Amino acid sequence: MASRKVLVSVSLLASSNPNFVAAARIAKAAGADLLHVDVMDGDFVPRVAYTAGAVRKLKAARLPIEVHLMVNNPAKLVSRFAKAGAKRICFHAEAQQAGLLKTIAAVRKAGCKAGVAINPATPVAALPDAVLRNADFIMVMSVAPGWSGQPFNAATPSRLRQLQARLRKLKLNTQVEVDGGVTDLTAPACVAAGATVLGVGSAFYRSTTPRKLVKFLKAL
Ligand code: DX5
Ligand code: ZN
Repeated sequence: MASRKVLVSVSLLASSNPNFVAAARIAKAAGADLLHVDVMDGDFVPRVAYTAGAVRKLKAARLPIEVHLMVNNPAKLVSRFAKAGAKRICFHAEAQQAGLLKTIAAVRKAGCKAGVAINPATPVAALPDAVLRNADFIMVMSVAPGWSGQPFNAATPSRLRQLQARLRKLKLNTQVEVDGGVTDLTAPACVAAGATVLGVGSAFYRSTTPRKLVKFLKAL
């Protein structure tokens, strides 16, 4: 597992800089692979954040943009965020929507990689085989969605192992991302358990040596 390349996706939500393009440029300069943009609708989660217009501006940072839709009815927003420049769009298995496979198809049709996220309270077993077969990546949340800076859920590595066991059984090598509470201390267990994309917010923006942190995480 650890021999696979680890990618770092820096989560903008954790930056306190009101100039979000400048915050994204810091991620690029530090060697991040992806820019993680958390979109919230005030319904699936209580807060509201990041419009498609913001994503359009963020292209200036020249990092591939991953949009994490923490919204109900994600399919409705897919083409808007794809047109704004997202390369990857992830939505929640728990969201109210016509069907996970339909939303995956909508993301693909819009020209983006499709990811399905699961909350800490959602069992890995709740993801149907067809979703594992069709998604480009699965995002395992290690915090409740909606806020940066929450502590890492200790059950996450075991959930990642359960997911890898299911993928192995289906002979799939679907990419697995972990999002929330990822730090230099929590990331090693995630990578050992099969995560190859690390969504990192607070640990990155609070670090006094962000370049060093990204280098460390990518070498796991
Ligand atoms: C949580 C978000 C995460 C979060 C990551 O709702 O989806 O992407 O911003 O931030 P940290 O790393 O601080 O948990
Ligand atoms: Zn996120």
